Amino acid sequence: MKPVFIALDFADKKTAISFLEPFANIDHLAVKIGMELFYKEGPSIVKELRSRGIEVFLDLKLHDIPHTVQQAAKQISQLDVQYTTIHALGGSKMIQAARLGLDEDAKASGSIAPKLLAVTQLTSTSEEQLNQEEQINGKIDDSVTHLANLAHDNGADGVICSALEDEFIHKKVNAEFICINPGIRLANNNKDDQQRVVTPEKARQLGAYGIVVGRSITQSDAPVKTYQDIYNTLNGGQN
Ligand code: C5P
Repeated sequence: MKPVFIALDFADKKTAISFLEPFANIDHLAVKIGMELFYKEGPSIVKELRSRGIEVFLDLKLHDIPHTVQQAAKQISQLDVQYTTIHALGGSKMIQAARLGLDEDAKASGSIAPKLLAVTQLTSTSEEQLNQEEQINGKIDDSVTHLANLAHDNGADGVICSALEDEFIHKKVNAEFICINPGIRLANNNKDDQQRVVTPEKARQLGAYGIVVGRSITQSDAPVKTYQDIYNTLNGGQN
């Protein structure tokens, strides 16, 4: 089944855990922990969620020299998370180092390494910013394709990208490459700070492996029902 990662963009463990209480009987629950919550609570929040059988996507977006990333990836692998992220812009050697760090630990402990996902261009980056601030000429889609290929060729399992990029990544990189899509909104939701938003139904049609949903669930009046509706839609149900 395709995962719906609830983005736990909360300030602390207490708030995150109390939000999740009504989800106690849901199977296949998956969450994304980002920098905000992890920098506050550290590994203890991961441990707590894993002890409840929840899949964890630890989104720390590593980007540093290869040796540092390898050692950090080794630490992340020991946390028993199922997915983690790096920036593809760190380059081929850094991507390989991340892969090595995750695999080294998994091999030593006999566990399954977390899936390694790369951020290509952040969805908040505009083409103008790419050209003028980063001095990368050309179209943003070409940069996304290039970085997705770099990630693929150096050992990443997939990318985090807009659902609107899934089709060309599957065509130009690899049909099996994992595409996990944030920027999801229900038809009646506010876009907030997201620019190019896509509904869960559209993400399914475009080939999402899984989606990340934050505020549409966390700020819903009925978070469990909203989650279930989104999960069913993504997995081809009626909602
Ligand atoms: O509330 P919302 O559904 O917009 O939350 C989306 C989540 O996905 C946030 O945790 C955000 O940091 C993350 N994300 C994103 N765009 C990316 C990568 C991650 O929105 N390109």
